[in-house]
Amino acid sequence: MELKDTIRAIENYPKEKVIFRDITTLLKDKDAFKKAVDEMATKIDKDVDKIIGVEARGFIFGAALAYKLNKGFVPARKPGKLPYDKLIESYELEYGKDSIEIHKDAINPGEKIVIVDDLLATGGTSKACVDLVKRLKGEVSSIVFLIELLDLKGRETLKGVKVESIIKY
Ligand code: PRP
Ligand code: ADE
Repeated sequence: MELKDTIRAIENYPKEKVIFRDITTLLKDKDAFKKAVDEMATKIDKDVDKIIGVEARGFIFGAALAYKLNKGFVPARKPGKLPYDKLIESYELEYGKDSIEIHKDAINPGEKIVIVDDLLATGGTSKACVDLVKRLKGEVSSIVFLIELLDLKGRETLKGVKVESIIKY
């Protein structure tokens, strides 16, 4: 089974000219979901301290990887969801604008962190997470995506950070 064949393309969603890569068709297929998590796991350094997952789709893969690799999991959340003291970063999306928050005590200075998300588009979301980790004095070991949309050049936004992806469009 090719992982790419399990991802559904929805044209003009959520707005004109965007091809939305729908991973729900991958997730509901037990073999595809397992293969996706296993392949992402091969890209993660074994000596990292924690995995950050980005709300919402990054939680699915981030939590599975944290469990598989026996690491702590830190949620980076959309605004207004975290209850304790937090840091916030704003960013542009392929189809809008948003912000992301992290608890101030989620990362200890010097910890090695891997950021996990389902998809790299412009890189705005991940860059905001990198900046949050830096503000907490953590070290970003790498960012691991299932999908990378090459024409949006997210890697340029993330230059200086090791970027890994499994499926490229
Ligand atoms: C999607 C995706 C990434 C981000 C990628 O999330 O899951 O987090 O966009 O785009 P970027 O590289 O241009 O920043 P979205 O904000 O749609 O939220 P969701 O996971 O809650 O669906
Ligand atoms: N997030 C940002 N761009 C996306 C796309 N084209 N498909 C799915 N998720 C996305």
